[in-house]
Amino acid sequence: CWSQILRLPEYFHCTLTDSSELQQLHSDMDKGDGSIKYILTGEGAGSTFTIDDSTGDIHAIQRLDREVKSQYVLRAQARNRLTDRPLEPESEFIVKIQDINDNEPRFLDGPYRATVPEMSKIGTSVIQLTATDADDPTYGNSARVVYSILDGQPYFSVDAKTGVVRVSLADMDRETREDYTVVIQAKDMGGQLGGLAGTTTVNITLSDINDNPPMFDQRLYQMSVPESAPVGSVVGRIWAKDKDIGVNAEMRYSIIDGDGRDTFDISTDPTNLFGIITVKKSLNFEEKPSYTLKVEGANTHLDAGLRHRGPFTDVTIVHVSVEDVDEPPLFDAPAYYVELKEDAEVGTVVKNVSARDPDAANNTVRYSIERSSDPEKYFYIEITSGSLMTVRSLDREENSWHNITVLAMEMIINNTPVSDFTPLWVLDVNDNPPSLTDYLEMSVCEQTKAGMVIQTVTAVDPDEPRGGQHFSYSLAPEAVNNPNFTLRDNQDNTASILTRRGGWSKHDQSVFYLPIVISDGEQPVKSSTSLLTIYVCSCNHEGYIMSCSAEAYSLPASISRGALIAILACIFVLLGESPSASDSVN
Ligand SMILES: *[C@@H]1O[C@H](CO)[C@@H](O)[C@H](O)[C@H]1NC(C)=O
Ligand SMILES: *[C@@H]1O[C@H](CO)[C@@H](O)[C@H](O)[C@H]1NC(C)=O
Repeated sequence: CWSQILRLPEYFHCTLTDSSELQQLHSDMDKGDGSIKYILTGEGAGSTFTIDDSTGDIHAIQRLDREVKSQYVLRAQARNRLTDRPLEPESEFIVKIQDINDNEPRFLDGPYRATVPEMSKIGTSVIQLTATDADDPTYGNSARVVYSILDGQPYFSVDAKTGVVRVSLADMDRETREDYTVVIQAKDMGGQLGGLAGTTTVNITLSDINDNPPMFDQRLYQMSVPESAPVGSVVGRIWAKDKDIGVNAEMRYSIIDGDGRDTFDISTDPTNLFGIITVKKSLNFEEKPSYTLKVEGANTHLDAGLRHRGPFTDVTIVHVSVEDVDEPPLFDAPAYYVELKEDAEVGTVVKNVSARDPDAANNTVRYSIERSSDPEKYFYIEITSGSLMTVRSLDREENSWHNITVLAMEMIINNTPVSDFTPLWVLDVNDNPPSLTDYLEMSVCEQTKAGMVIQTVTAVDPDEPRGGQHFSYSLAPEAVNNPNFTLRDNQDNTASILTRRGGWSKHDQSVFYLPIVISDGEQPVKSSTSLLTIYVCSCNHEGYIMSCSAEAYSLPASISRGALIAILACIFVLLGESPSASDSVN
């Protein structure tokens, strides 16, 4: 019968005043004589709400906060105080807490940080801010928020309804000012007087765009580099400064003109800011003591919309002077090689070496032998002329090579002398002719036909010419028309002896002689003549020597060698390896 909804304002506190009595429950049976007892149960009964059990007055004994709990469901009953018997059925009622504007709008994510490109148009949106108000948005204006800007004008503005912060000043330049602190207020009650307000800060940074062209920090750079600087050495650094930052300040440099275009290179350092000039070709002060370079620096990242502010390039002049370096004397050859005749007389000039000072000063050069290279002092060098001569007779059996280091030194008064070395090899030539040492004797089988190789010969020469031996073989002039044998130079330092006819018979003629000439490839040509002895032997059908002439038996070594060759030839035949060897068998 008295179920009802109570609306309580939040923050209502029972213990303060009489008005804390929020509702009186009253039973029709209550005669006011105290015989009835009121009981309250349900949400918050006893803790948030109490009831005066004799009057039925309900009190809130705790602060009510709609934002914590907006309604309570309670039940009340009237009972007989003495019997505790219910006088009426239990009655449910709901206490709804009514909103009051007790929460100010809050920027939960603040303070904020935002970035907008410099030179942005008026109205460009920077960031949207949202303030939340805990009050009841469905009741009154307690949660109706309006935004306004407290600090940051005239650069920025805020949309009162949406909270969007926008650029409000044209052509804001990062290079002039980069950071702005904007204070935004959100006020509830639709912004009216009496509304609660919350504020936040937005730190806005202007980001860079490429709106400034680069400019060299010097119109003319003066650099110098020693002429000895190797290719790749750094000559100097130039810088086209740019008020922009990051990629908008990145540079690419190029040499666009000047007489040093081919001699120097320019690259950009790893930070992409500086131009590094390096040596591209070796320098020579005496040839060209200075260079001029016209260098262009250009921004690598261009903003298409800002080309009209360009050109984003600048040009400077770099003047490079080449410094003279006292260079050591230079020999006219990197090394010398000399062959010395056998038994060269003491005092023979072996070689005239020559070195000169490459510098403009053209200092006098003095020569000496590096001592450790000629410990036994075979040689002497004339200090001013560079004539190297022998001072002891050379003994080839002791030393066939003399590797001498010659020193050239510039004479500079009051200065450290600079010097250079060159090796000089002296070969003590023992000018021997080549000769045959082996196979002066050989044999031919009676059944051997014309055009067969009966022996291959090799010469030796005790000399050690550079580039190796090159022997050539020929028949001696008196044997050129020999009808019986001939010779073939194999062009590999060997020669083959061949038959020119067949029909040999040791009974007709048991031994032949063949003079051959062997020459070396040196200058002057040395040659020797060797006389080959050829025995006619009877052989079996496999080519084995059975018997030779009487003279041959007196030279068993030669014969046994001949026999061995025949056996080897036989093996080669079996293996099918060597046609020239098989020739000699047939
Ligand atoms: C001298 O130099 C030559 C050529 O480089 C070399 O073959 C020879 O072994 C050297 N001799 C000595 C003793 O160093
Ligand atoms: C070539 O052989 C024939 C016949 O044996 C001989 O008479 C002649 O002297 C030989 N010639 C030479 C140059 O040995």
